Amino acid sequence: MKIVLVGYMGSGKTTIGKLLAKKLKISFLDLDEVIEERLEDSISDIFNGKGEIFFRKKEHEYLNDVLTQKNNFILSTGGGTPCYSGNMDTMLELADYVFYLKISIPGLVKRLILEKEQRPLIKNIDDGDLPEFIGKHLFERNNFYLKANHIIECDNKDPKALVDEIKGLLA
Ligand code: S3P
Repeated sequence: MKIVLVGYMGSGKTTIGKLLAKKLKISFLDLDEVIEERLEDSISDIFNGKGEIFFRKKEHEYLNDVLTQKNNFILSTGGGTPCYSGNMDTMLELADYVFYLKISIPGLVKRLILEKEQRPLIKNIDDGDLPEFIGKHLFERNNFYLKANHIIECDNKDPKALVDEIKGLLA
């Protein structure tokens, strides 16, 4: 079974993905990690050194590689992955399930304010401007996220409950 998790930065894709993979006894892949391993560089340094367009091209290429491999897996994507190069349609076509982990703007602000540094797209945004930035960004990205097969409302739920909820939706 091929399962893909999409959602905004800080929505818990990696945490939930790891727990779900453990529960289903299948492997876990993180697209950001695949990119870092193959390019032997951190996401921040790739953005700084080669720019976002280079990153998006590699993200698209490696996403296709992962989706066309034969093994079963849970794949955690980057927050922007579904929004470029037809990636969301490819995921819907090649994976068995795409889940959108949805969190409210205040919920995202609360999490991201603590982890801005590793994220090139928000690290230079003042804390006070984060709600507006995230709100606008999410408004643009929602069109892509909402195409997922299932939308999982994540506010105020613990990871274990979310994993059970997702597991319950699998055939
Ligand atoms: C990005 C999200 C990041 C990473 C890159 C770009 C985005 O992944 O792919 O910094 O465009 O939202 P996470 O969602 O895992 O933070």
